[in-house]
Amino acid sequence: MSQDLAHRTALVTGATAGIGRATALALAARGADIIVHGRDRERAADTLRQIEAMGATARFEPADLSDPAQVIALAERAGDVDILVNNAGIFQFARTADNDPATFEAHIAVNLRAPYLLVQALAPGMTARGHGAIINISSGAASTPGHGSGIYGATKAALESLTRVWAAEYGPDGVRVNAVAAGPTRTEGTAAYGPAFESAGQAVALKRLADPEEIAGTIAFMASPEASYVNGATLSAMGGQPALG
Ligand SMILES: NC(=O)c1ccc[n+]([C@@H]2O[C@H](COP(=O)([O-])OP(=O)(O)OC[C@H]3O[C@@H](n4cnc5c(N)ncnc54)[C@H](OP(=O)(O)O)[C@@H]3O)[C@@H](O)[C@H]2O)c1
Repeated sequence: MSQDLAHRTALVTGATAGIGRATALALAARGADIIVHGRDRERAADTLRQIEAMGATARFEPADLSDPAQVIALAERAGDVDILVNNAGIFQFARTADNDPATFEAHIAVNLRAPYLLVQALAPGMTARGHGAIINISSGAASTPGHGSGIYGATKAALESLTRVWAAEYGPDGVRVNAVAAGPTRTEGTAAYGPAFESAGQAVALKRLADPEEIAGTIAFMASPEASYVNGATLSAMGGQPALG
C-alpha cells in the first residue's frame, strides 16, 4: 500500500465502529496519523490497537456530537487536521406522522450541525496550510425516498448540498471537499436490523450488502492525492441501481 498520506493527520468521526473504524484503518494503511473520535472508550481502544498493530499512530478524542460545545472542543483538541472525515451519524427511521421532535433534533445535531461546526473550525487551518481534504459521508437516502427515512435523508441531502458549497468556498485555497454516498453496509449500527437487512442488499444491482472496508476504500481514495482533481463531488458507493421493469 502506498504511503501517500504520510505526514498527514486525519480526524475520523465515529471511528469506534462500522464505516468510521474501517476508514481510520484504511487511512492509517496509507500512512496517515489518525485521530479516532467517538464516545465508546472500549471500542475506541480496539480501533487504536488495530491501527497501532499496523505500525501507524493514533489517539482517541471523545465527544458527544449532539452537544455543540463538545464539537467545538473536539476541533480545538484535534489541532492541525489535514483530512476530516465527517462519518459519525445516526439513523432512526420513522414515518413523518410518527416522528417526534427529539428524534428530529438529534438527526439535525449529529448528522448536520456537527459536520458544519467541524468544517467551520478546521477548514481555515487547511486553507492556511494550502492543502486539505474533507469527506462527508452521505447515503442513498439523500436522493431516494425510503420508508421512514425522511429526516435522516434530509440531513444527508443537506450535507451533500454543503459539500458543493464548501468545495467552492475552500477549493481556491487547495482544500477539496467531497461526499461519499454509501449503500447498505454491514456495521454495528445496521446489525440492529437483524437478518431482515439482507433484503436491502438485494435491492442494489450488485445484489449484496457492502462490507465497511468497501466504503472505507472509497473514502480513502477521495482523501488521497489520486483524487487531486475531484472537488464538490458525491461519489456513489451504493452497489448500482437495478434496471426497472
Ligand atoms: N451502514 C449503512 O448501511 C449506511 C448506509 C449509508 C450511509 N451510512 C452512513 O455512514 C455513517 C456510519 O454509519 P455506520 O453504519 O458505520 O454507523 P454505526 O455502526 O452506527 O457507528 C456510528 C458511529 O458514529 C458514532 N456516533 C453516533 N452518534 C454519536 C454522537 N452523538 N456523538 C459522537 N459519536 C457518535 C458512534 O460512536 P460511539 O458508538 O463511540 O458513540 C459510532 O462510532 C453514518 O453517517 C451513516 O449515516 C451508513
